[in-house]
Amino acid sequence: KLHDIGVIGLGVMGKNLALNIADNQYSVAAFDLDSDKVQGVVQQEKSEHAASKQAQVPLRINGCNNLSEMLSSLEKPRILVLSVPAGAPVDGVCNALIDAGIESDDIVIDTGNSLWTDTVEREARYSKKFVFFSCAVSGGEMGARFGPSLMPSGDIKAWDRIKPIWEAIAAKVDAETGLPIERQEPGNPVTEGEPCTTYIGPAGSGHYVKMVHNGIEYADMQLICEAYQLLSDGFAMTTTEIADLFDKWNQGSLNSYLMEISAEVLRQADPITGKPLVSMILDKAGQKGTGLWTAVSSLQIGCPAPTIAEAVYARAVSTQKEQRQTLSHLLKGPAAEKPTADERDAFIDQLENALYCAKIACYAQGFQLMAMAAKDRGWTLNFAEIAKIWRAGCIIRARFLQSITQAYQAAANDGIELDNLLMADDFSIALSEKQLDWRKAVSAAVLKGIPVPCISSALAYYDSYRCETLPASLLQGQRDFFGAHTFERTDKPAGEKYHLNWSHAARDLIKV
Ligand code: 6PG
Repeated sequence: KLHDIGVIGLGVMGKNLALNIADNQYSVAAFDLDSDKVQGVVQQEKSEHAASKQAQVPLRINGCNNLSEMLSSLEKPRILVLSVPAGAPVDGVCNALIDAGIESDDIVIDTGNSLWTDTVEREARYSKKFVFFSCAVSGGEMGARFGPSLMPSGDIKAWDRIKPIWEAIAAKVDAETGLPIERQEPGNPVTEGEPCTTYIGPAGSGHYVKMVHNGIEYADMQLICEAYQLLSDGFAMTTTEIADLFDKWNQGSLNSYLMEISAEVLRQADPITGKPLVSMILDKAGQKGTGLWTAVSSLQIGCPAPTIAEAVYARAVSTQKEQRQTLSHLLKGPAAEKPTADERDAFIDQLENALYCAKIACYAQGFQLMAMAAKDRGWTLNFAEIAKIWRAGCIIRARFLQSITQAYQAAANDGIELDNLLMADDFSIALSEKQLDWRKAVSAAVLKGIPVPCISSALAYYDSYRCETLPASLLQGQRDFFGAHTFERTDKPAGEKYHLNWSHAARDLIKV
């Protein structure tokens, strides 16, 4: 019997996607250049079956020795999932598939963290050979295994064929509560609830949306890290106390997967020294590039996303360990003051509100960036749907995403386009109520000399949007002064340009 779907690349993500697809009753042909990995996935399915007493259910993953064997074992037109590192390996496999005889109506789905512009190019480049489709995947290893958030984009006819499989393997959300339905049992996938996948749009749009997801992910992670440093360095709390606080916050409006795992990381003891593991992990952050791409794209498009950019810079400054070591002895900060228990408790409440506000600002930046990119590219993105598929399965999953979903749905019902999430009623009310605490938390950080680039840049973003008038008037004056770059006037129609003859004594105004 021919198989339903092929999976190429059996690293952690590919292997787990294959197992997830098989759990959902599709038969899989699996291939990797490393034959041990092929054997590995076949064996894992067997041992999971044995452990879950599913022996009566047929095994559905079949290992292949090469791509030709894989192609001839698949039902036509074929569906192939690529799970290989972003960049050159994707083209390597595409070309190998062409050599192995792939056909023009076969679909190849790239599930890596590819740069969205590469995806746009690839769809065009391979269009005569096969249908190049892309689907960004979020949720890490466990997401891939038991339900990721899936952001597919490309040929809409290809999507019709992929959709049933994707809806089966995606994470699920309880339709009433908007909360994830968590079940991580091999052979017993979640079949009820709303699947965390939706067709995003034309080629590249899914990877763009995933890129922004990762930009928000970087910012969300950094916000939590800043809170951790404030509480430990500024308020002398132990890692266990901070873990307890994060667990408590995780029960309220700050609920998120990232908050949950941060508490778990803080609670972990180092197996070697017995100290908190976090105190033994070198404070140099890595990155694979997606957050950076988001910041670059925001700069190119001209969309303010300062908190996402600051999160990338925070990782960059963390890697400058040697300079930080030197400067920590050279540069003066404020004298450390020992806070009282009351001061600490008051600060904890302020910080909780500050984090919530900063989080709203981060998401506002990310969604605005997607909206501006969509206008640029002519994509029609459905933001309520995007928020919906981020409610479970992905790394930034959080209760908060339900509020974003509702904000976009409410705007759509009223027939308005929500230009900025800060304008949504629930968020503008929450921000107005909590902004004073946000300021107090940032002030405390500044006075204590603790860097909070994300919490504070989010506040600057909020305050910038509150200003009907910004000092860009002076800036335009400066530009006109040294470069005759012209300016528009508040009392004249938009687009009308003026220049003041700064170098002449008369300083006459010229309409350009
Ligand atoms: C996800 C993650 C995943 C990966 C990123 C971030 O949504 O599942 O975002 O794609 O963890 O690549 O990695 P870096 O922090 O290394 O950039």
